[in-house]
Amino acid sequence: MIKIQPKNSYQGGSENFKGFIRLSSNENNYGPSSKVISAIKDNSKYSNIYPELDGNSLKLQLAKTFKINSNQIILGAGSDEILQMAYAAFTKPGDEVLFTKYAFAMYSIYAKNFKCKAIKFNDKNLQFSLNDLLKLSSANTKIIFLANPNNPTGSIFYKKELINFLDKVNKKTIVILDDAYCEYIQDKSYDNGMNLVKKYPNLMITRSFSKIFALGGLRIGWGYSQLHNISKIYEFKKPFNVSRLSCIAGIESLKSKSWLKSNIQKNIINKNYTINNLKKIFFEIIDTKANFILLKFKNEKLANSYVNFLNKKKITVRSLTSYGLPNYIRMTIGTQSDMRKTVKISNKFNV
Ligand SMILES: Cc1ncc(COP(=O)(O)O)c(C=O)c1O
Repeated sequence: MIKIQPKNSYQGGSENFKGFIRLSSNENNYGPSSKVISAIKDNSKYSNIYPELDGNSLKLQLAKTFKINSNQIILGAGSDEILQMAYAAFTKPGDEVLFTKYAFAMYSIYAKNFKCKAIKFNDKNLQFSLNDLLKLSSANTKIIFLANPNNPTGSIFYKKELINFLDKVNKKTIVILDDAYCEYIQDKSYDNGMNLVKKYPNLMITRSFSKIFALGGLRIGWGYSQLHNISKIYEFKKPFNVSRLSCIAGIESLKSKSWLKSNIQKNIINKNYTINNLKKIFFEIIDTKANFILLKFKNEKLANSYVNFLNKKKITVRSLTSYGLPNYIRMTIGTQSDMRKTVKISNKFNV
């Protein structure tokens, strides 16, 4: 008998894009810079040639950009793949992993895949303190996953709290600081943890090209930690896991600081516009420091009818039912034009 293909347990956002305003997957709707697109086009003719085994050119560019050692970097097909490799390297069945209840879905999905026991801190009210979370860790906790800011709740912690936590946590527990959205944070008291890697042998940073860098479709992420951790997870890295065009796009996108700066600015402007202009009759708005906001409805039915209403108008937003937050909708901040249209249409929503 033919086995049925298992359903992917990750419930992603909408896959529609042509003709749609996509506000469902926290992408950057401005798209990659023209220089990145030219680099991809110029290199597409080499698609017959295998990429570098480990994406060394991109690692070198990352090392240069962030003034870090390229040996301490590992590339993944999205930062998601780094998380998977970390599970493979640092856990065995029965081990505990710790994260918040409303954390990025893949932490939980991989816990199941790797037969780990997921301990979840209940971040009710969508915020939490690292001190409280730490109380749930034990000698059997192999990895603690912390997205800062977190998706989908937008919760965030600052440098002082992070350092205090790193000082206290068991040094045998790997702390993965998931920085998928870190570029959006301008606050000086925020720390993406990059400079803390030298001091804390159990700290690993993961970063993504899928968010502000607008390269979600090319699947590029990376991990950074002390060499002993990177060597361990390298054992689980497939050769050629990041494609030639992805590496080229990644390299090119790191070169323009002004492009990055202007995209950070645009996100703030468009987010403020959206928050100030959406009519708050059916929902309250929860602001975040990242590239999305949350809309909290009175009930699930109302939230779903809002999603369907926007979908009919070719605007996709993300229901958070699969995250256990059925009254909430996550709306990514798109371009100025995306948000003007979305506000206009959304303000006509009625029940
Ligand atoms: C908090 C967080 N971490 C990791 C990822 C994975 O990103 P990617 O695999 O595209 O780098 C996402 C994607 O939405 C995310 O929100």
